[in-house]
Amino acid sequence: MIIAIDGPAASGKGTIARKLAERLGLPHLDTGLLYRATARALIDHGRGLGDRDAAVSAARGLALADFNEAALRSREMSEAASIVAAIPEVRAALVELQRRFARRPEGALLDGRDIGTAICPDADCKIFVTASAETRATRRALELRSRGEKVDYGAVLEDIRRRDERDSSRAAAPLRAAGDAMVLDTTKLDVEAAFEAALAIVEAATRRRARAAL
Ligand code: DC
Repeated sequence: MIIAIDGPAASGKGTIARKLAERLGLPHLDTGLLYRATARALIDHGRGLGDRDAAVSAARGLALADFNEAALRSREMSEAASIVAAIPEVRAALVELQRRFARRPEGALLDGRDIGTAICPDADCKIFVTASAETRATRRALELRSRGEKVDYGAVLEDIRRRDERDSSRAAAPLRAAGDAMVLDTTKLDVEAAFEAALAIVEAATRRRARAAL
């Protein structure tokens, strides 16, 4: 079974994806890390975030095992990843790696912005996780503070709005819900309630799949 989870920054999709993958015993790929790691490599090599050739080689050179997640989750890297992710050649360079992950024989769960629309349009279950920008900014500010970053709520809200705008308006695979995705709004849900709602969507998809196989 392939599960695609998409949504904007801090919507709760990452937490839902991790918990679902654990419950269902599926390998999980957080595709945002690919764009974060590409941006990190550019910065580490002193290249500009708009340097297409360097960005494409950085994306091609990624190895999933090398990611230092904690270092990639800073506020600076969120913004940098969103800039690099708008380069169509970078997205193209990362398609096969993601599809290969999705083709694992045991199934897979991928989360990102374009999984249900571009990477796995035939996924068995698609969930688009969303929440109000204010709720997402509150969550992100708490998360960044828990990592030791000094952040101001207003600045984080501005970051989120800017990133939403960039991720949704880019020409290549913009952030949007697939036509056949179930939309899950987590604005008023805590982590457990959001997870239960997502699990119910997956279980309904599993039943649909079983009926179709009869
Ligand atoms: O999910 P995240 O916040 O870690 O993603 C960081 C950035 O990477 C996000 O602003 C847009 C980009 N991204 C993308 O364009 N497509 C994906 N499938 C995942 C992330």
